[in-house]
Amino acid sequence: MNLINAAVRGLVSSVTAAVALSLAAVGAQARSFEDIKKDGKIIVATEGQFAPFNYFQGAKLSGFEVEVAEAMVAKMGLKIEWKALSFDALLAGLRQDRWDMVIASHGITEERAKAVTFTDPHYCSGGVIISKSDAIKTAADLNGKTVAVQTGTTYLDNVKKLAGVKEMKNFPQDTDARAALITGRVDAWVTDRFVAKTSLAASPSAGMKMGDFLFVERIASAVSKGNTSLAGEVNKALAAILADGSYAAISKKWFDEDIRCK
Ligand code: ARG
Repeated sequence: MNLINAAVRGLVSSVTAAVALSLAAVGAQARSFEDIKKDGKIIVATEGQFAPFNYFQGAKLSGFEVEVAEAMVAKMGLKIEWKALSFDALLAGLRQDRWDMVIASHGITEERAKAVTFTDPHYCSGGVIISKSDAIKTAADLNGKTVAVQTGTTYLDNVKKLAGVKEMKNFPQDTDARAALITGRVDAWVTDRFVAKTSLAASPSAGMKMGDFLFVERIASAVSKGNTSLAGEVNKALAAILADGSYAAISKKWFDEDIRCK
């Protein structure tokens, strides 16, 4: 009798442990807009190494996307808590509900949309080819060449599609991919057009030249897959700042032009 009891108890506790484990693996439920509203504070994650979109000016997180997010969150009547993490941790953290939203220049792709819910895009851009040679400007010019890209990006995906590329070197940060070009370890660097523009202007003596677009993309924030209440409120806030001139002012400040999707 005692033996059976012990066995049953053992079974019950191991089932309980298994359930607890699988719950931990799944993570807490994503916070709906209602939950966030009650708390008053939304947790937003970005990278902070992708100037002029999200980067550190000293200790201060700044950039176009930081200001766009702050303007949207103000429209939503919330406070913002920023988290800065490596690029490859950002979307994964949404699945684990470690933060409510990510804004880090993610292009909307089918692959990513399987794992997260994208909001409407907050800008349109694309990947460009940068090199120090006048002979490397187009996708065809990358034939037989070595190309630097940031790991986990659409730049990597799109360079991969080019059959003739000799070697692709990937780096955890886009700034390291740029450094590889500047120091001559690669023939070309593929990054965002506006990142390239800013980099070229910031280091004129590096000899970098902007080539063609390799592809274009729509850039959006992301929330946990299926968190439509939050995505809906973000979309409303984005529409509001696009309409009331605040987006235009932020874009003018950073780019001297309006980079919204047209
Ligand atoms: N737009 C590219 C992509 O969707 C690059 C994003 C890189 N963002 C960053 N914060 N480093 O993958």
